[in-house]
Amino acid sequence: MSVAIPIGFRLPDRYRKGDPLSRSVLVTGGNRGIGLAIARAFADAGDKVAITYRSGEPPAGFLAVKCDITDGEQVDQAYKEIEEQHGPVEVLVANAGVTKDQLLMRMSEEDFTSVVDTNLTGTFRVVKRANRGMLRAKKGRVVLISSVVGLLGSAGQANYAASKAGLVGFARSLARELGSRNITFNVVAPGFVDTDMTAVLTDEQRAGIVSQVPLGRYAQPEEIAAAVKFLASDDASYITGAVIPVDGGLGMGH
Ligand SMILES: NC(=O)c1ccc[n+]([C@@H]2O[C@H](COP(=O)([O-])OP(=O)(O)OC[C@H]3O[C@@H](n4cnc5c(N)ncnc54)[C@H](OP(=O)(O)O)[C@@H]3O)[C@@H](O)[C@H]2O)c1
Repeated sequence: MSVAIPIGFRLPDRYRKGDPLSRSVLVTGGNRGIGLAIARAFADAGDKVAITYRSGEPPAGFLAVKCDITDGEQVDQAYKEIEEQHGPVEVLVANAGVTKDQLLMRMSEEDFTSVVDTNLTGTFRVVKRANRGMLRAKKGRVVLISSVVGLLGSAGQANYAASKAGLVGFARSLARELGSRNITFNVVAPGFVDTDMTAVLTDEQRAGIVSQVPLGRYAQPEEIAAAVKFLASDDASYITGAVIPVDGGLGMGH
């Protein structure tokens, strides 16, 4: 059966080049919170989605690979498993992250280095490994999940803010280094989002935060996922090195 294609109709590039319609997507920390919403958004669009998890039962519907991003061996093993099942990663969302809040006077060196090792060096590990396949394919999309705190700073979060600010320099350097290879690197900087990470805040802290947010509320994880999905789409083909705030206006101007 032949299909009549209207004159002037232009298929998106990835279809015309004969690539599979469904991309190999990896979301680190895709087992809960913002990462899970991102994983669901890609899966709903028909992509093959792999997620990392560290313990417990991962959510159904994804290729779940056990991986702690502070361990380079585990990162490499996770990629091997994904490559076998879904092919090389074409879209990487480096989402996994932690907080260990403390005022500087009481912050131990371990409090600082462990947060940086997960949020910044862990991202380096997964991005570096993804790039092998992306370089070969001469295309790729990388989205890093930073935070409004990396741009504004936050008392008691010097370790977290430093790690999240570091992601901006990291992404922008790679955008310059690998732009000619058709790989884009962008950063999404969420404000406060309803997840386990913010569930530890007291009602008083929460009210204080919301009073600073022009939109007057926390974000839902799906609102962060929408921006990530856009940055990985054909519609964002000319965007690289950008920092996209999804923060209800909290960090505007930075
Ligand atoms: N919630 C917010 O208000 C907010 C705002 C701005 C930015 N962010 C950022 O958004 C990202 C997701 O946050 P969330 O709110 O969804 O947090 P969450 O609910 O606490 O989830 C954190 C995720 O990161 C994973 N993870 C942590 N350390 C890891 C490691 N060493 N190796 C592999 N995975 C690891 C966790 O896996 P396990 O389940 O195995 O622990 C979990 O999937 C983080 O980077 C966070 O900094 C969050």
